[in-house]
Amino acid sequence: MEQVLFKYIDDPEQHKIERYIENGGYQALAKVFKDYKPNEVIDLVKSSGLRGRGGAGFPAGLKWSFVPKNSPKPKYLCCNADESEPGTCKDRVLMERDPHMMLEGIIICCYAINAHHAFVYIRGEFVFPAKRVEEAVEAAYAKGYLGKNIMGSGFDLDIIVHTGGGAYICGEETALLSSLEGDRGLSRIRPPFPAISGLYDSPTVINNVETLASLPSIFNNGVDWYRSHGTEKSPGTKVFSLSGNVKKPGNYEIELGTPLSYVINDLGGGMEDEQYKLKAIIPGGSSTPLLMPDQIDTPLDYESIAEAGSMLGSGAIIVIDERACMVWVAMKLINFYQHESCGKCTPCREGTAWLKQIINRIERGEGQNGDIDLIIDVCGNIMGRTICPLGDAAVMPTESIIKHFRHEFEYHIEHKKCQVKTDYPF
Ligand SMILES: Cc1cc2nc3c(=O)[nH]c(=O)nc-3n(C[C@H](O)[C@H](O)[C@H](O)COP(=O)(O)O)c2cc1C
Ligand code: SF4
Repeated sequence: MEQVLFKYIDDPEQHKIERYIENGGYQALAKVFKDYKPNEVIDLVKSSGLRGRGGAGFPAGLKWSFVPKNSPKPKYLCCNADESEPGTCKDRVLMERDPHMMLEGIIICCYAINAHHAFVYIRGEFVFPAKRVEEAVEAAYAKGYLGKNIMGSGFDLDIIVHTGGGAYICGEETALLSSLEGDRGLSRIRPPFPAISGLYDSPTVINNVETLASLPSIFNNGVDWYRSHGTEKSPGTKVFSLSGNVKKPGNYEIELGTPLSYVINDLGGGMEDEQYKLKAIIPGGSSTPLLMPDQIDTPLDYESIAEAGSMLGSGAIIVIDERACMVWVAMKLINFYQHESCGKCTPCREGTAWLKQIINRIERGEGQNGDIDLIIDVCGNIMGRTICPLGDAAVMPTESIIKHFRHEFEYHIEHKKCQVKTDYPF
């Protein structure tokens, strides 16, 4: 399978600008400056079908086209490098090993939307990736790919690397903007959407690292080449982070539409310990509903995963074998979401705290009759009633775990202990 984003990922020198250039780097940018007007860049990205890799799969070119061309305000690009969704670790690798690919994508996007300032918002714990990105930015300035009159094009761009404080919510695009402005990372009500009124009330595009890193290859090779990978509605390749009970966890780049079983069995080497069967799969990061073992052949594209009842999300596949107690899994997830709720809206702030209380008491063997229905009731009062999607992200896996493994919750409540007898080393 053709490696695009990961083509040079194992080259220990690829993070250096000299090696990046040697391997064809910054040629796409030269082509863009030479052959395309900004609106033509947007049109090409639209026709490539590239969809955002941060979770929602929103078409990148369409998002850029929402930026008003005649607004007198400055335009901004924020590259979302917060990567905090449990299970996801692809952007970290892209930034550590091939940071110029992302930078080249950032410059192309800024040229298209007429932005002269871009920000890379990196999660605080990513000390090493942030260092690599800072070094790459410095090298790009030194070689004339950033700053004034880039490559003689007349286009100016400055990039600022900003590290966050380690809050999951700051990956949510509006909380990211609040944090970048120096406020608490609280989400904002939409509309207005950031493309109209984002950073400092100015038109702002927010794109994920992988989305931006996908751009140079599209301009180097063309739309037809890009569309020859993946499916019609989900073109291209994507990096999936495989973790959990598999032999070879890691980041793998595949064409969208590749069966999930190929990633788990062929790339991941199959179940970690073959005497334990597959129990469930989280396909797109911890916010997404479970897929069950009989869905292991589902193609990994936005449409097929949605048809199967889940979401492609950020592409973090977590494999769970039969040793795991699903009450324990639900508890771990809700503890995370409760902790990371920004607290701005009541359904999420209160609701995740109630869910945490109830699920934790079931796990401890102190559950009460009616607790399962209470969980479902609380979930119903969060879903779709919050300012940002974190509330939904807490509900979706919880409801899905109960739907598929209600009997484990019932057993915990009735017998005050776990049904899954295991010495699994958590
Ligand atoms: C709670 C929450 C956390 C998020 N975390 C991230 C993240 O770490 N990185 C990211 O790119 N997108 C994250 N997103 C999605 C962003 O809000 C936004 O949709 C994305 O950055 C847009 O980029 P894209 O269109 O290139 O995917 C998160 C969303 C939510 C609701
Ligand atoms: S849903 Fe949760 S994280 Fe999002 S704004 Fe409301 S309280 Fe904050």
